[in-house]
Amino acid sequence: MASSLSYALIALFLSICVSSVIATAEFNQLFQPYWAPDHFSFDGDAVNMKLDNYSGAGFSSKSKYMFGKVNIQIKLVAGDSAGTVTAFYMSSEGAKHHEFDFEFLGNTTGEPYVVQTNVYVNGVGNREQRLNLWFDPTTDFHSYSILWNQRQVVFMVDETPIRVHSNLEHKGIPFPKDQAMGVYSSIWNADDWATQGGRVKTDWTHAPFVASYRGFEIDGCECPVTTADSDNAKRCASSGGWWDRPVMSELSVHQSHQLIWVRSNHMIYDYCNDAARFPSVPVECEHHRH
Ligand SMILES: *[C@@H]1O[C@H](CO)[C@@H](O)[C@H](O)[C@H]1NC(C)=O
Ligand SMILES: *[C@@H]1O[C@H](CO)[C@@H](O)[C@H](O)[C@H]1NC(C)=O
Repeated sequence: MASSLSYALIALFLSICVSSVIATAEFNQLFQPYWAPDHFSFDGDAVNMKLDNYSGAGFSSKSKYMFGKVNIQIKLVAGDSAGTVTAFYMSSEGAKHHEFDFEFLGNTTGEPYVVQTNVYVNGVGNREQRLNLWFDPTTDFHSYSILWNQRQVVFMVDETPIRVHSNLEHKGIPFPKDQAMGVYSSIWNADDWATQGGRVKTDWTHAPFVASYRGFEIDGCECPVTTADSDNAKRCASSGGWWDRPVMSELSVHQSHQLIWVRSNHMIYDYCNDAARFPSVPVECEHHRH
């Protein structure tokens, strides 16, 4: 009796703490507005967030995670979105935080959105890449995901990898794997830099600017906020989640081909190739295979 109860408790503990497998969830199960709740509207399974001349808006996950995969479907601001930025990202907290960013830079009607990605490690970013998408992200929902394990961080658009940040600790390069991260999205006015280098300003007569979300999925090692990062790191590093299977330690051959295709057809900027900005090539770029 006692032992079957303790097995049940262990199973419960494992299912809660080690690998919370959540299929598409309701927004409220995983997330909450953290900025301007009055700029949210709920429409069936979709959540809309608006930017107007009073405020932007943002939501954050209720929990923090270390490793796993987050996936959200987003339909970006239709029509004139110049000056606006919609971001979807994971981030830890503090001066030495880690962060994995998708930033969708709006544009004037008919001109393409730009997707900027960035990776911060120990508080330092400056690792921007930019690409155009192979579809119009404003007419339909598309999925954007971040896979994070101990070997790599993979940014994906509709399951096609667009960026890989590999663990190169064996070359002495720090890799983010010691801090729990929250999952966030926000929309705000960034017309000082976002569109055509800041030349095109937000046209407030076209407000509100609305981004829509659905298909909320987080499948990761959940980290209680009351637990120290070092303990979470130890537990999550040995949690045995599917994202840490050997096959997930690098892209499959098919995915590598997809990434090559994206890079050769859609990439418009890569910090690794910006010699004016980085006279000596950033260390991780020397070792990245892509
Ligand atoms: C915001 O825009 C509305 C509609 O264009 C306008 O009536 C209002 O004065 C503006 N408010 C601010 C604070 O600029
Ligand atoms: C906006 O459109 C222009 C013209 O097509 C393009 O050069 C630019 O990269 C696009 N995106 C942004 C964010 O400026």
